[in-house]
Amino acid sequence: MSAGPGPRFAEDRPANLRTPPRWHRLSHIAGLLPRELEALAAGLGVPPDGRVLDYGCADAPYRHFFPAGVEYIAADIPGNPHATATIAPDGTVDVPDASVDCVLSTQVLEHVADPAVYLSECARVLRPGGGMLLSTHGIMVFHPDPVDLWRWTGEGLRHVVEQAGLEVERLEGIMGLGATGLQLFQDALLWRLRARLRAPVAWLLQRLVALAERLDDADTRRLNALVFAVVARKP
Ligand SMILES: C[S@@+](CC[C@H](N)C(=O)[O-])C[C@H]1O[C@@H](n2cnc3c(N)ncnc32)[C@H](O)[C@@H]1O
Repeated sequence: MSAGPGPRFAEDRPANLRTPPRWHRLSHIAGLLPRELEALAAGLGVPPDGRVLDYGCADAPYRHFFPAGVEYIAADIPGNPHATATIAPDGTVDVPDASVDCVLSTQVLEHVADPAVYLSECARVLRPGGGMLLSTHGIMVFHPDPVDLWRWTGEGLRHVVEQAGLEVERLEGIMGLGATGLQLFQDALLWRLRARLRAPVAWLLQRLVALAERLDDADTRRLNALVFAVVARKP
């Protein structure tokens, strides 16, 4: 598939972003996102002997958010050696109805062919009262894994989650408009620079991104953000 000219950044595989150096072009969001997700996960109330579905798991980076005793179903498309369950070609997962306490979906929705099918699967497998923590992209550069199909507004994400029959408890924006604007400027610039200039320029711009974060409060970030995170429950 060709996306034409411009930055693609397919090299940013999730596993390369766990502890990126300060000169990495995503160092700010890579530090911020796990902290924000961990705080939201703490409110899910997953019991110590509960069941969690990580739906699009990669290397299951957030397994440690949950008690050691939970049964952790790590699901992914075929070819992921870390997965303990395989997602079918139609996007569904072989997990019984109303059988999990929590669905974790981090940076997956933008990659799925049919978000409505994916979200209805999330609702189907959750037990009544169970919670979903989902994060996905607001305003973000193209990054295929293996494809990159969708972007969301805070309102749009709330809408599709509610359409799946889930009740939104919290919706947060992660990295506000000022910081996101600088991030995108950096993404437009970096790939045009000589290779030896990329690290120092990214280091500088990532420090500016961190400063620009102060422009936006939580309400503003819920409107425009690099990443949105939602906590929703099955009634
Ligand atoms: C950007 S990675 C995120 C991985 C991990 N959840 C994280 O937060 O680091 C996207 C993940 O979605 C998976 N994926 C791609 N298409 C999918 C689909 N249709 N359904 C579920 N997962 C999918 C990819 O294999 C990959 O593991």
